[in-house]
Amino acid sequence: MPARKIIIDTDPGQDDAVAMLLAMASPDEIDILGITAVAGNVPLSLTARNARMICELAGRPHTAVYAGCDRPLGRELVTAEYVHGKTGLDGPDLPEPKMQLRQQHAVDYIIDTLRHEPAGTVTLCPLGPLTNIATAFQKAPEIVERVQEIVLMGGAYFEVGNVTPTAEFNIYVDPEAADIVFKSGVDIVVMPLDVTHKALVTQPRNDAFRALGNAAGIAVAQMTDFFERFDKDKYDSPGAPLHDPCVTAYLIKPELFTGRHVNVEIETTSELTMGMTVADWWGVTDRTPNAMFMGDIDADGFFELLTKRIGRL
Ligand code: RIB
Ligand code: CA
Repeated sequence: MPARKIIIDTDPGQDDAVAMLLAMASPDEIDILGITAVAGNVPLSLTARNARMICELAGRPHTAVYAGCDRPLGRELVTAEYVHGKTGLDGPDLPEPKMQLRQQHAVDYIIDTLRHEPAGTVTLCPLGPLTNIATAFQKAPEIVERVQEIVLMGGAYFEVGNVTPTAEFNIYVDPEAADIVFKSGVDIVVMPLDVTHKALVTQPRNDAFRALGNAAGIAVAQMTDFFERFDKDKYDSPGAPLHDPCVTAYLIKPELFTGRHVNVEIETTSELTMGMTVADWWGVTDRTPNAMFMGDIDADGFFELLTKRIGRL
């Protein structure tokens, strides 16, 4: 089976970083055409910096990295330094990137790539707010039907929200963009908090990353040591939730995940529930299913895969 061609759209973020490292450690399964940065966890200038730092940490300094949208479609940017630290990548002491950003805007890169690659052969992997993806779909509607699949981290149903009582961060930051993506008709696989809150970096799992002894393994251990503080305090959880690596793990080993193909719509009207992913898990409406909404994960299998692959870098 040829490697799957993907564009990673990301707002690193320690968990984004681990997702990128997993993808870069898996060239037989994943062919990263490019990485597009978006404003989210931290402002765009930092997500674009952090994405390049991770490429260099992985020994992939020739990866094409593009800067995209610096604010949501229709509202002020909300960031998450309280979780990720002021740089967005607090924890390890990584050097400033030497590699340059590509000149093209990320939205135009996404459009050009989908126009020029054969239809149905490129998967979009958003790990942050969906601003870049929605903007590309608005600017060039003809690319929508050319997307093979969207595999994203975002949303929540049984787990409820992590930034408001009802909304998960990626969707909450740009609900209008999420609405465009979920109504686009593209096949979507959703990794919500329902799954990612079961992918926790317990101490033994963190020790296993550190025991790899390579720069990437040690950096992942340092990132998750930092990144777990917020969730441990809030949820009394035993470790950091590795949200975004669920996306790249799905591309490599989809059998690690189980879910349901259901209708998911985005709240974009009520401020009380703004950004909620309203998943019709029990099929109580006649709304057409539009997303494979994941509900469970083989956590031990996930961490076995992740640790082995990070050890390759
Ligand atoms: O809610 C978790 C998501 O928000 C993750 O993608 C994390 O990196 C932040 O972007
Ligand atoms: Ca993210």
